[in-house]
Amino acid sequence: MRNCILATIAFLAGSGAAAAQTGDEAKGERAFKQLCTTCHTVDKGGKSVVGPNLWGFLGRKAGAAEGFAFSDAMKGSGIVWDEQTLSEYLKDPKGRIPGNKMVMVGVKRPDQLADLIAYLKKATQ
Ligand code: HEC
Repeated sequence: MRNCILATIAFLAGSGAAAAQTGDEAKGERAFKQLCTTCHTVDKGGKSVVGPNLWGFLGRKAGAAEGFAFSDAMKGSGIVWDEQTLSEYLKDPKGRIPGNKMVMVGVKRPDQLADLIAYLKKATQ
């Protein structure tokens, strides 16, 4: 039992460290260009193309960007975007929000995910 608690604490400390891991913005920008720009823009007033424009999305409810027809799954997800929810979503879009219509396999590499988040925090606000 004691071991179990210790293992849990170690796990939480570990995942906390991962979430707090600071990514590299420049690498994140490259990753964004490779993986996301086919569908997303990040600049203020940018177009919503296949996916919604991402300006200002952090701190906002999922599915609230203006001028984009989100799925009911996204609008009804109850998610507010922060580093944690974004990281969970980008790792496994379909798993985190079943029925959402973003067709992307997911960012599986933790370092790339941290880079992307560092970039998005800067580029979208
Ligand atoms: C094939 C097109 C496509 C690609 C590639 C793609 N997305 Fe998306 N994305 C979408 C669509 C479509 C939605 C809206 C989903 C819905 O309404 O169910 C979306 C939604 C989102 C949202 C939610 C926005 C909001 O305002 O709630 C975020 C954040 C996001 N994408 C980030 C990313 C990132 C970061 C990448 C690259 C790692 C990426 N997307 C790659 C199409 C894409």
